[in-house]
Amino acid sequence: MSYDLVIRGGVVGTSEGTFAADVGVRGGRIVGIGTDLATGAAELDAKGRFVLPGGVDSHCHIEQMSAAGIMTADDFESATASAAFGGTTTVISFAAQQRGMDLRTVVKDYHLAARRGAMVDYSFHMIVADPTEEALAALPELIGEGHASIKAFMTYDRIRLEDEQILDLLAIAREHDATVCVHAENHGMIAWMSKRLLQDGKTSPRYQPASHPRESETEAFQRLIAMAEFTGHPVTIFHVSTSEGAAVVREARERGVRVTAETCPHYLLLTEEDVDKPGIEGAKWCCSPPLRSKSDQEALWEALRRRDLQLVSSDHAPYAWDETGKLKNGPNATFKQIANGMPGLEARQMLMFDAMISQGRMSIADFVDLTSTAPARHYGLFPRKGAIMIGADADIVLWNPERSHTLTAATLHDRTGYTPYEGRTVRGYPEIVVRRGEIIVADGDLRATKGSGTFLPRGAGFA
Ligand code: URP
Ligand code: ZN
Ligand code: ZN
Ligand code: ZN
Repeated sequence: MSYDLVIRGGVVGTSEGTFAADVGVRGGRIVGIGTDLATGAAELDAKGRFVLPGGVDSHCHIEQMSAAGIMTADDFESATASAAFGGTTTVISFAAQQRGMDLRTVVKDYHLAARRGAMVDYSFHMIVADPTEEALAALPELIGEGHASIKAFMTYDRIRLEDEQILDLLAIAREHDATVCVHAENHGMIAWMSKRLLQDGKTSPRYQPASHPRESETEAFQRLIAMAEFTGHPVTIFHVSTSEGAAVVREARERGVRVTAETCPHYLLLTEEDVDKPGIEGAKWCCSPPLRSKSDQEALWEALRRRDLQLVSSDHAPYAWDETGKLKNGPNATFKQIANGMPGLEARQMLMFDAMISQGRMSIADFVDLTSTAPARHYGLFPRKGAIMIGADADIVLWNPERSHTLTAATLHDRTGYTPYEGRTVRGYPEIVVRRGEIIVADGDLRATKGSGTFLPRGAGFA
């Protein structure tokens, strides 16, 4: 057998475990796994390295307008370049409808943007913010074209849906085989609490966490889970932030409800104390749901260990640290006027490798599962993505477990101009990144060309 590329002498990691093996690639796919594979046209020495499937980031906002009309700093070029540097070779971002927009046109436009810029492979969840008859009627065909996931918001003034509208989406998803993902927080509680804080003069970003009561998460999860039971269709819950939220998911799963849930590195590694900065500075850490407490972090880690939560995504929401993004409403903006979200696409895998492997919380198999295999499976990309397996796309990352790296805005590759992890040193570094057999990052050098990522049509996966 001849190979285009052989990755030799490393330790291969899958969601099941690790083993010493060479990996042979031909035509962009993995065609050989074993010891002493024949020489390839190109060879990579993987001694002392883990050879892991590329990361699959199933929740990132790219080239997207926020509900309040603020544009992400990253387009597909910069977002996917930063993904590649961080060892992520597949992204699922959003085709985001806003009220008044034609859903079909929205999906078409995001395809154009991605085709222009993407350097890693991509797919889209369709955000339905205006479920008109026309939009609902377009869904079966859009799902059939490979967009087999729909995202709904239960909060945010301009995009949130009523329960009745979410039920419409669940019914359509059930009939046409799609997954429904939800940003689940109780809108009324957030609005009420925000108003009280603002009236009390507590307006700066440091008060943003208090504006999202913990119960807003619990209540919305419970309501959504009841809708899943009522319609008989599974739901996916995005970004679990509290211990109570994780407990609600666990109880539902124990009852047999098909609910899948994710959390994100920032809920595992940062807390509301990070937001507690003077003036506007805290805006860097404003996200929705907000950062919580140390005990929530512990509960979320435990929930991941138990697989009460199954996915770790970045929720990359890159608003620039300037007047086009986080500072759009000036230095005295209230927490309500700050774009929600933080960058995380590049750092996700490094943060998780460090927290899970280098700090000994979990195994390589867990790392691969939570950040690559499980998201690929859940969203209908497996086994093409998320696996080191014969026939899978050769999306492979060589991790040096001993190499430390300090995260700083100056060395990350997104366009926000800041990182919520400034100065944090992580151990474990994605030195070489291979996408469909092609080396796209090596020695800190990006070799992919813009537009070289391909669209990944998806069926319903787990749904
Ligand atoms: O704060 C966040 N997460 N911003 C991005 C939009 C969303 O809610 O997912
Ligand atoms: Zn049709
Ligand atoms: Zn969200
Ligand atoms: Zn999000």
